[in-house]
Amino acid sequence: MKLALVRDSEIYNRKLLGLTLRDRIKLPLERAGFTVRFFKEDTSVEHAESYLIINEPVLILERDLELNGRKLLVSDGVTFGYLFGDDFHAFFDGDLQMTIEKYLERNSVGVQQIWSVKLSDENLKLAEKLLLSSLVKVKRTGLKPAYYDGIIARTLNRIISLRISKYLADRTVTPNQITVFSFLISVIGSALFLLNSYFATLIAGIIIQLHSIIDGCDGEIARLKFLESKYGAWLDGVLDRYADFIIIFCVTLSVSQTNGLYWVLGFLAAFASFIIPYTGDKYVAVYKQTYTSGSFRIPITRDIRLFLIFLGAIFNTLAISLALIAVLGNIEGLRRIIALRSVEL
Ligand code: C5P
Ligand code: CA
Ligand code: CA
Repeated sequence: MKLALVRDSEIYNRKLLGLTLRDRIKLPLERAGFTVRFFKEDTSVEHAESYLIINEPVLILERDLELNGRKLLVSDGVTFGYLFGDDFHAFFDGDLQMTIEKYLERNSVGVQQIWSVKLSDENLKLAEKLLLSSLVKVKRTGLKPAYYDGIIARTLNRIISLRISKYLADRTVTPNQITVFSFLISVIGSALFLLNSYFATLIAGIIIQLHSIIDGCDGEIARLKFLESKYGAWLDGVLDRYADFIIIFCVTLSVSQTNGLYWVLGFLAAFASFIIPYTGDKYVAVYKQTYTSGSFRIPITRDIRLFLIFLGAIFNTLAISLALIAVLGNIEGLRRIIALRSVEL
């Protein structure tokens, strides 16, 4: 057993983004394999294979808890906790603080910097910011998703989706409900392309961009509230493939009324919209690691494809959007086949 001893504090009763701060420390610790015990003044200590002692109220993220050895846990230059080995038990004399000091005198201990926030009434806004920014799928946050966010997701979609998720956090809505809702929005947007008026097309484009934004909220809420599920992850991706096809089908139906050859573009764009996620997902399934598409990649991930549709709707140039998706997507698919050949991991 790995034992986590957390010094209790009033502040753990406060709620932040839908969960109490107590749950926000307990759940990640439990996921990291610790048995969690909150203590007030002092605590008894049974034998364990390792001891994590958190002395100050903090917000920590699950991804920072892959700890081993003997460590001082430090954030912003301040020690807030310790990780000790099974020998800590032998030092224990009933007084936790004294035991920690005795243990530190006898053992050499490494330092582990952790991206955390000390909890206080004044610091709650900072904690909220840390928590929200930790949800974004970029390298910096230490997340290991199937793939990282594309440029539109990073610079536009996440800024808005995080605000929506912040609003949703206090409500009971589940990630899977958001996944299905986001899909339904894409169907409504697609249908509007069929009305063939500029105004309807404009609204359709805006709705598709909104769909792209809300596609980030299911994952954000899942990570924020410890509600991730395999089925949810699978459904998220599968419904995206349906949505991609429905959107491109409706756009193609609409533009092909002026020129029947646009069906060829639509066909190729639909294929591109499959081959990009397929090559990514297949990579993740086989290589069992995050897909990073190399330095000469053509940026044509889903966030960008949907943004192209959005722009096409605004400027009434949807055929160009289809052409870009068709050409760039298929070239990128081929590029991946060639580029991966020489990467054997
Ligand atoms: O932020 P984004 O939606 O791209 O994150 C996708 C990830 O979020 C999935 O891989 C999965 O871990 C999680 N998720 C989930 N349940 C959902 C939707 C997403 O667990 N319904
Ligand atoms: Ca999603
Ligand atoms: Ca989705």
